[in-house]
Amino acid sequence: MVWLILSLVAGILLLLILVSKRTRSEKEPPLDNGVIPWLGHALEFGMDAAKFLTRMKVKHGDIFTVRVAGRYVTVLLDPCSYNAVLEDSVSLDFTCYAQILMDRIFSLQLPCYNPVVEKKMMTQHFNGKSLSLLNNLMLRHLQSLLLQSQRACHNQTDWNTDRLFNFCYSLLFRAGYLTLFGGEQNNNRTDPTDVYEEYRKFDQLLTKMARSTLKPEEKRTALSVRGRLWELLAPAGLGEDSGSSPWLRNYRHLLQEEGVDEETQRRALLLQLWSTQTPENIAMRAVRREFSCFSEQDSAQLPLVDRQHPTPVFDSALEETLRLKAAPFITREVVQAKTLHMAGGRDYQLRRGDRLCLFPFISPQMDPEIHQEPQKFKYNRFLNPDGSEKKDFFKGGRRLQCYTMPWGAGTNSCVGKHFAISSIRQFVYLVLTHLDLELCDPEAQMPKVNASRYGFGVLQPEGDLDIRLKPRHSH
Ligand code: HEM
Repeated sequence: MVWLILSLVAGILLLLILVSKRTRSEKEPPLDNGVIPWLGHALEFGMDAAKFLTRMKVKHGDIFTVRVAGRYVTVLLDPCSYNAVLEDSVSLDFTCYAQILMDRIFSLQLPCYNPVVEKKMMTQHFNGKSLSLLNNLMLRHLQSLLLQSQRACHNQTDWNTDRLFNFCYSLLFRAGYLTLFGGEQNNNRTDPTDVYEEYRKFDQLLTKMARSTLKPEEKRTALSVRGRLWELLAPAGLGEDSGSSPWLRNYRHLLQEEGVDEETQRRALLLQLWSTQTPENIAMRAVRREFSCFSEQDSAQLPLVDRQHPTPVFDSALEETLRLKAAPFITREVVQAKTLHMAGGRDYQLRRGDRLCLFPFISPQMDPEIHQEPQKFKYNRFLNPDGSEKKDFFKGGRRLQCYTMPWGAGTNSCVGKHFAISSIRQFVYLVLTHLDLELCDPEAQMPKVNASRYGFGVLQPEGDLDIRLKPRHSH
């Protein structure tokens, strides 16, 4: 009898939790609970966040709160008000949510996780002289991988086929892996191609891992691929002869000093591999003309390493690619109640325990008021008619500080930005100067974007495009 009463009470409580809805106070952003108890908008959000948030923006305006799997997430889509969020690290916390993802995706809990120390170390290793050394090494690895792939081609004079996204991802991933993690040395013979192949499988399941929505079969694959990657990464960063970058060796050392065991160290390495590997998907036209003015001698070394030649056309084309394809959520945990001052003059109260999310992809990046015909790729969108960099973009008559935000902004903006840009510049330069490359079907349509990846960094295509490539003999 007692059990019956207890289960009834528990059932009623559960039901109450499921159907209870929060009500909005006057000073809070518009609230949208969705119709499904507890889940709220989780399904629509997960399927295509860009479509869902655009619909909410039309319904509620630039700021609103939605219920997502029991959590309340306030979404801010007014770029003129982003600074109020990005510069407040007291009420808004960057690390809580990052730690939740670390656990869900990498099964990683660091006992003495200290993001300040980690970030300081990374900033030091990805700037100044250290950055030049990394850029140099990256260039060497890109060159030798490209040469290897040319030698592997059966036919040196005729066309070989590949797939565009796979070709770019594989080359950049392996060169980046060799630069940061090593892999050619005696005690670290891990083949970067093995890591790439396992990593692609892992990457395909990553968004589902982050949302805890893996099906049983997918979960089995995810766990086994993750285990394999931990094994492959095991030698990285261990001593000078691992061939790894000083940053990774220092990072390992830091973990060891904190008493982190070997198994957890490998998990942390996979997290670092993920945070340093972002695929790029670039279309290039006028860039070849700009790059063709580097002399043969130049091309071997310095301009690609230390930016001695300005490359405004390339810079604009990359900015435009990232405007269209970089779609991260910038998420903060509200750790103490906050009044958010909007640029338009209105104030909104944010509740402690809620999450705050900026989605610069919708605005500024795809905002038609800021960028005309935002769906179109215009390589010269960020160039003035005189060829200099264009920085004047407006919304509501206001000149914008952030008119595209692929790297985030404020206190937590991307530490690896300069390394990433330099690697992409080198990659594009080498491919355009060493290879002739064309679509197998000139009429082929761009594959659709994988909509479930909105919010998780750079977008990826659903499918790929067949390409033909052959060595460029003029080089
Ligand atoms: C195309 C390539 C990349 C893009 C688009 C990108 C984008 C971003 C963005 C948007 C953030 C801000 C997140 C936030 O405020 O919530 C960020 C942070 C960060 N990025 Fe990148 N990133 C790229 C490549 C890299 C690389 C190559 C590295 C390392 C070598 C790196 C290391 C980091 C780190 C450590 C942070 C956190 C900064 C902090 O703790 O304050 N990123 N990145």
